[in-house]
Amino acid sequence: SIVDPQLRPGYHFQPPKNWINDPNAPLYYKGWYHFFYQYNPRGAVWGNIVWAHSVSRDLINWVALEPAIEPSIPSDQYGCWSGSATMLPDGTPAIMYTGIDRPGVSYQVQNVAYPRNRSDPLLREWVKPGYNPIIVPEGGINATQFRDPTTAWRAGGRWRLLVGSVAAAGGGGARGAAFVYRSRDFLRWARVRRPLHSAPTGMWECPDFYPVEAAGRREGLDTSVPGRPRVKYVLKNSLDLRRYDYYTVGTYDRRAERYVPDDPAGDECRLRYDYGNFYASKTFYDPARRRRVLWGWANESDTTADDVAKGWAGIQAIPRTVWLDPSGKQLLQWPVEEVDALRGKSVTLKGRVLKPGQHLEVTGLQTAQADVEVSFEVPTVAGAEPLDPALAHDAERLCGARGADVVGGVGPFGLWVLASADRRERTAVFFRVFRAAAGGKPVVLMCSDPTKSSLNPNLYKPTFAGFVDTDISNGRISLRSLIDRSVVESFGAGGETCILSRVYPSLAIGKNARLYAFNNGKADVKVSRLKAWEMRKPLMNGA
Ligand code: FRU
Repeated sequence: SIVDPQLRPGYHFQPPKNWINDPNAPLYYKGWYHFFYQYNPRGAVWGNIVWAHSVSRDLINWVALEPAIEPSIPSDQYGCWSGSATMLPDGTPAIMYTGIDRPGVSYQVQNVAYPRNRSDPLLREWVKPGYNPIIVPEGGINATQFRDPTTAWRAGGRWRLLVGSVAAAGGGGARGAAFVYRSRDFLRWARVRRPLHSAPTGMWECPDFYPVEAAGRREGLDTSVPGRPRVKYVLKNSLDLRRYDYYTVGTYDRRAERYVPDDPAGDECRLRYDYGNFYASKTFYDPARRRRVLWGWANESDTTADDVAKGWAGIQAIPRTVWLDPSGKQLLQWPVEEVDALRGKSVTLKGRVLKPGQHLEVTGLQTAQADVEVSFEVPTVAGAEPLDPALAHDAERLCGARGADVVGGVGPFGLWVLASADRRERTAVFFRVFRAAAGGKPVVLMCSDPTKSSLNPNLYKPTFAGFVDTDISNGRISLRSLIDRSVVESFGAGGETCILSRVYPSLAIGKNARLYAFNNGKADVKVSRLKAWEMRKPLMNGA
C-alpha cells in the first residue's frame, strides 16, 4: 500500500478494521448516543452488509458493540441496507431499514426491528417481528430503486415516512422521488400516490426530511414537531448519479402530503451539506441538548487495492449541529461542541499581516491531528478579480481554473494544511473574492485544493469548492479546519460552506506535517487571530 498507517484518522469515527458506509439510525436513548452504520464484517470493500453498532456518552468517545442487525429473516437475508430510527411515544425506538430478499437482483423491501429489552440502555439486541416486511414495492415502483426509509413523523394521529426511489422507471433521466407511506398503527403502511417531492436528478438514496426553526434559532426540533407557523422543512437527497448530498429548504403541506422548496431553482441541486467527500448523510434530534445533529460518510480517495492492503476503508465526518441560517435560505453547520474536549496544547497568533505572496508557519505544536480556527481581515475588496460569467454558477470548475497557486486580486488566501517542510506537499483550503455584479455583494468562493497534497501517484485528488453566502465587504471571514491525518474537514464563515477532503501525503505525515497561513492575492490580508490545537485521540471502538 502507498498509504502510510500513520494516515489513519485519529478522532473521526471508524471501526478497528474493514469497510464502512452510510450512517444509520442515529439516536439518543437513556443517556447514550447510538450509532449504527453499513459495515462489511469480512473485508475492506463493500459487501456482506450488516448494521454495526457503537455507543457513546458524548458523540466523541465510542465503544463498539456486536452488530445490531444482520441477515436473519427471509426479507433481509441478502443484505441489511440503510435505514433510520423513530422514537415511539412511549419512548421505545423502532428501526426501519431496507432488506434485500433475493439473490442476484437487489429487490428491496422495508423491515422493522425493535429492542428486545427496553431497559437495556445499550440496546444490544434487536428483534425482527414475524410480520416483516412492512413495505414492499407495489403499483409500478421499481423494486431495485426503492430504499432507505427515513425517521417517521406523526401528525393528526398518523405516522408518515419516506422511501427513496424514482418516480418513473429507469436510467439517468429518471426523476428522483421520495414516496410517502402512512400508518395509523405503525404496522400497516399505505403509500400516498404522489410522492412528497421529485426532481429530474436520477434515483434519490437516503432521503432525510425534518423541521427546522425559522431564521437563525440554533435549537433543533423533534421530527414529529406539532405544526407551528415558524417552522420550515429541509429535504435532503443523496444523488446516486452524482454522489453528493443536496438539500432544499421549503414548506410541508401535511394535508396534501407535499413539500415545496422555497427557491424554485433549488431542485437544480444548488445547496449541498458539504461540497466535498460526504454522502448518504442522516440527521437525528438530540433531546438531551435540544439540537439536530448531522452524520455523513466520507469514503477513501485512494485505490481499492490500497484499501484492501490497509484493511480498512471509510470514516464518518465529525457530527455537526445543523440549524437554519438567519437568511432562511440555507443551513449552518458546526462541529458538535463536544469535539472541543479533545483540544490539547495550543498556539495563538494575532494581528499578522500577509503581504502578497507571503506565508506564515504555525509552529510549536504537531498539526497532523489538529483543530484550527482562523479569522482573516481583508482591508479592501476593491482589487477583487472579475468573475467569468461562464463559471459564475460552477464553483468546482471555477476553483479548478483558479486554484490555490493562481495569483488573484483579493485572495486566494487561507491555510496550507498537512504540508511538508519544503511545501512540495500541501492541501490548500482557501477563499477567493470576485468583483460584485452591479449592485450586488462580492462573490466569495471557498475551495479545498488537494492537487499538491501528495507526491504519491494513483490518488484521486478532486478539487472541491462552494460559494459562501457572506458579505465580505465588511472585511472579515473565518475558517475552521479539523485536520486528522488524512482528513481535512473545513467550515467556512461559521458553517455557511463546508468541505471535507481525504488526502494521503507521503512526506507530511505525523511529526512532519506542518501548518501555514498563506496569501496568493495582490492585496494584503491580515490574520487577525489564528488558534490551533493539537487534538487528542478519543476512545474509538478499540481502533
Ligand atoms: C448509499 C447506499 C444506500 C443503501 C446502502 C447499501 O450509499 O447505496 O442507498 O441502502 O448504501 O449499503
